Amino acid sequence: MIQVKTENPYVLVVEDDPDQSALLERGLGQRGFRVTAVRDARSALHRLTLERFDAVVSDLGLPGMRGDELLRLIRNVDQLLPFIMLTGENDVTTAVKSVRDGADEYLMKPASVASVIQHIQSAMDRRAQTNSDERRLRDADLAELKAFLTGVQALVNSLETKDQYTRDHSKKVAQIALMMAREIPGMNNDRLREIRIGAWLHDIGKIGIPLTILHKEGPLNAEEWEEVKKHTIYGARILEPLSKHYPEVQRIVRHEHERWDGKGYPDGIAGTDIPLGSRLIMIADTYDAICSTRPYRAAMTREDALKVILEGSGTQFDPSLVPVFEKTYRDFPCAT
Ligand SMILES: [Fe+2]
Repeated sequence: MIQVKTENPYVLVVEDDPDQSALLERGLGQRGFRVTAVRDARSALHRLTLERFDAVVSDLGLPGMRGDELLRLIRNVDQLLPFIMLTGENDVTTAVKSVRDGADEYLMKPASVASVIQHIQSAMDRRAQTNSDERRLRDADLAELKAFLTGVQALVNSLETKDQYTRDHSKKVAQIALMMAREIPGMNNDRLREIRIGAWLHDIGKIGIPLTILHKEGPLNAEEWEEVKKHTIYGARILEPLSKHYPEVQRIVRHEHERWDGKGYPDGIAGTDIPLGSRLIMIADTYDAICSTRPYRAAMTREDALKVILEGSGTQFDPSLVPVFEKTYRDFPCAT
């Protein structure tokens, strides 16, 4: 007697031959399966949209849409649903092909209930194994991602502790960019998360710029300035390991110094070619720089920052984001 491990697995039988269908319904029912039987592929697809089945047992030579076409449509949306194909003697070649196309097994008709159950059970076991493998992989992936972000946090800290004037700058830029992003219609959690991470790590590439340049008092010469600009490219490179989970973060960081009018760097792209996250950082970064104390000047006020951002609307800044800034900036942190 074959043991059914999953409690009352639910099987969809697709069979136009009433005798074979009745045999399966009765036999599966006696062994603890729940069964729904339909006569054609279209009804099967309909049932599959309404209910969750553990396995499908289908005839190949159905009237209208055939069993192999049904299999193909199911595999488009579910790679793992156990699928057993039943076939008559004159259709063995197609049945063999259907196994290549994703059926778990084919059985010659009349198929015994015992062999149908045996194949359903092994297909269900395979699916359970694949699911648990995938879960393990996903967990390992997330652990790796967490370790990477912890390492990156250490980099941000080391970058910021070297310079008292930019302490907490990344955190504040992320906070401001996120507050603005929340006001934009159509944002979902994934996009908000990418913008927050991108804003938090926007200057990570500065780790690759010599400190003599980064902390130089007085104006930079042309050569030094070219070096500083490279921090966008370095940043995107450092964040390569994030591309699997957050593909937009690298783009956001690479383009955080692009201007709306195309006169920014590193690529000189313009308008909405610039990732939304980068356009938000351009505003948030400017605001925080104005609101913070610098070695060469005292911090200015929120209203000073507003003035600069209004003046740069349509040239440096995305003109559709400036009103969003105007609406929210009173809630942003400012030293004065
Ligand atoms: Fe930057």
